[in-house]
Amino acid sequence: MEHRIATITLGAFLVSSAAAMAADAENGKLLAEENCARCHDVAPGGASKLYPPSFTAIAGYRAEEQIISRILYPTLHSPMPAWSNWISRDEVDDLVAFIQSLEGS
Ligand code: HEC
Repeated sequence: MEHRIATITLGAFLVSSAAAMAADAENGKLLAEENCARCHDVAPGGASKLYPPSFTAIAGYRAEEQIISRILYPTLHSPMPAWSNWISRDEVDDLVAFIQSLEGS
């Protein structure tokens, strides 16, 4: 019996640590509303010809690696802040998961 409880506990631990490692689009949404929405349209169904581009548009025309690099290293002289100074790499992955979840919305 004791052995069985230990197995169940270990199983729960493995599941929760795997979830912690995966990008979290829900957290990305919160980060986007807090940090990005004053410039970008971060809502689903954002228009395609805006400046700066809506997150829905970005999801449609950029690959994952391009989105990551443009968050970390924005175009020179652009008003887009260099987020690598303020947010963690995990938070960038959460933001990218959120942006990609908007594709086709
Ligand atoms: C002060 C305004 C401002 C804020 C805040 C801002 N951005 Fe931007 N962003 C821009 C502008 C302007 C551009 C277009 C020029 C460029 O690509 O650098 C841009 C471009 C981008 C691009 C590249 C778009 C493309 O065409 O590939 C991504 C991705 C992006 N922003 C993500 C974010 C994320 C994620 C946040 C929040 C963590 C954020 N931005 C916050 C102004 C902003």
